[in-house]
Amino acid sequence: MSTTATSTSAFPVSKRAKMTKLSSTAAVVMAADKLRAQGVNVIDLGVGEPDFPTPEHIKDAAKRALDENFTKYTAATGIMPLRQAICDYMNSNFGSDYTPEHCCVVLGGKQGIFNAVLAMIDPGDEVLLENPCWVSFPEIVHFAEGKTAPVDTEVTDFHMTADLVGQAITPKSKLLIINSPSNPTGRLIDRAEFRKIVELAVEKGLWVISDECYLQFVYPPNEVNSAAMLPEELRSRVLIAGSLSKTYAMTGWRVGFTLGPVEWVNEITKIQSQSATHAASIAQKASVVALTSSQESVKEMLAEYIRRAEWFIPALNQIPGIKCSAPEGAFYAFPNMKELMKNCGFATSKELADELLWKYGVVTTAGSAFGAEGYLRMSYANSLEAITEAVERIKQMVADRTK
Ligand SMILES: Cc1ncc(COP(=O)(O)O)c(C=O)c1O
Repeated sequence: MSTTATSTSAFPVSKRAKMTKLSSTAAVVMAADKLRAQGVNVIDLGVGEPDFPTPEHIKDAAKRALDENFTKYTAATGIMPLRQAICDYMNSNFGSDYTPEHCCVVLGGKQGIFNAVLAMIDPGDEVLLENPCWVSFPEIVHFAEGKTAPVDTEVTDFHMTADLVGQAITPKSKLLIINSPSNPTGRLIDRAEFRKIVELAVEKGLWVISDECYLQFVYPPNEVNSAAMLPEELRSRVLIAGSLSKTYAMTGWRVGFTLGPVEWVNEITKIQSQSATHAASIAQKASVVALTSSQESVKEMLAEYIRRAEWFIPALNQIPGIKCSAPEGAFYAFPNMKELMKNCGFATSKELADELLWKYGVVTTAGSAFGAEGYLRMSYANSLEAITEAVERIKQMVADRTK
């Protein structure tokens, strides 16, 4: 077969690349863009990012960094003032005693988890993952040639418990990844259960990654809960994967952190030094200001997510066939659509999401993308007007399919 200079037909794709899927949430973004290009008024409940701009004082700090020519390489671990600011932030909020040697600045929470998994997982090692979970967890584990073992949480309405973790542990289990508040379910692990889970994991010789990227978006009366609150003997087996992306509406800036055992952080740093090198110098400077200045904007965003959830969840529950528990954090509704799917003739949540997208211009993500068939993930990081319109369109779809 002949190939041209730009043909990829003969491209020798590696085993690793073959195992890696394009993120299904990214695929939804591309589909929505296609519809928009056709002039469709698309309501996007697929987004996993705040709909607010980055606060002005953080943008100003980046502009200052540029003006001061802070535009060169930094240490692979990140600049010391940022590592210190991350430790101070976590220590003052959660009573821990992290120092900069426990901290490596990374390019967003995702890259932190990627580096952390690569630093620990050998082929065949087993990683326990909540099911459903964020789409990138299994992909990252597979990239490291590890095996995933699900901790199914549908039975507890998506609340991770020590009992469920205990049932899933096998002799090959090496790592447990937890994520509270959770994407996609919006559920939390409460403080006492969180500790029991980590105690059990440590007792069984496992290590733990606590993905805390939605840490500050917890809805009262639930309490913000971080692995940084655990006693030292437990924390010594836990790596916190933190991110500024959601907290400060900084998804495009690509700044996150890993915070935990020095040996683990050192390996993460090695991997980082040979790949991305470090997070952008300007973004690092802005992140120092994000963490050390007024947190008012975070409170405002949280209040707005709560206001939207208070409208959205009851509105969803009024649609025949939808059952939706109240989210406890983050900005995702994860309604049970099983009855609606039966009534409307959809065999899978993907079919339902496709119908909503292509016929009604509402972007959602099929629960199956996260490992839970019969559900949809709907982000309310969108205006109340848009959410209201989405609800009207879903009602219309149900009416059309059941008349
Ligand atoms: C659970 C979870 N962890 C980590 C991330 C990564 O965020 P970032 O890499 O932008 O910090 C996301 C983003 O959607 C997420 O939902």
